[in-house]
Amino acid sequence: MTADNIKPVTSKTFKKLKENKEKITMLTAYDFSTAKYIDECGVDSILIGDSLGMTILGYETTIKVTIEDMLTFTKAVSNGVKRALVIADMPFLSYHLNKEQTTLNAGKLIQAGAKAVKLEGASDFILDEVYHLTQSGINVVGHLGFTPQYINTLGGYFVQGKTYENTIKMLNAAKKLEENGAFSIVLEMVPEESAKYISENLSIPTIGIGAGKYCDGQVLVIDDILGKYPGNIPKFVKQYSNIKEIMKNAILQYNQEVKSGDFPSKEYSFNLTNEEKDRFEYLINK
Ligand code: KIV
Repeated sequence: MTADNIKPVTSKTFKKLKENKEKITMLTAYDFSTAKYIDECGVDSILIGDSLGMTILGYETTIKVTIEDMLTFTKAVSNGVKRALVIADMPFLSYHLNKEQTTLNAGKLIQAGAKAVKLEGASDFILDEVYHLTQSGINVVGHLGFTPQYINTLGGYFVQGKTYENTIKMLNAAKKLEENGAFSIVLEMVPEESAKYISENLSIPTIGIGAGKYCDGQVLVIDDILGKYPGNIPKFVKQYSNIKEIMKNAILQYNQEVKSGDFPSKEYSFNLTNEEKDRFEYLINK
């Protein structure tokens, strides 16, 4: 329990939700106020995704995101959250050199306020890192299917696990992540049937993004569901709002009112008292 009597969501809660067949909800966030609203709406988990490379920093992919970037946004998000489980992405190359670097980087994200880290892939090297992190007391979420940090070797934004053989390969990778201590796995851009089979054959929960309705939970990028991101929106995104238009209308109006002198009106200004105004007039005209 927190001081406000709020029971925080933990990795154990994830397990319980899967066992009870209750869906797990997750959204990305990158700043304090958005994280606070997501938390207040009862979403189970908040991911500081390295998608911030696109949504916040304006890059084309996640490749340029650094551990320093992730630390800044992890601090901001953590400050807004009381209940949701905060997970931070480990960015490209932050867990690929050796165990010391991986642990140091993951540890920094935990010290910045995350309660778990997420990393992509399931090579023997990565599985070793996952084992080492969980043995060091750091909760780990895996990420399979389309893994954006591998964009250059994957060759583009393609659905993964489109055959029986590839689905079994993905399931085996997921099982190895589970054996090495991951408490949940994000499945990105995977056919619904494949994701269903994988989810049913794991004891840890899967969180789908473009992986259909049978995953144990769902995650989407906050900018996408709010209709804020100016770039391409993937097929799997449902836009629940058009914040872009709301923002642009407000900005246009502000720009117009400043240019015309309508803003700031009296309502938005501070004034001297009448007495001080008279003294002021007297003194400047003396
Ligand atoms: O970076 C991110 O936001 C993610 C989610 C899309 C799963 O990894």
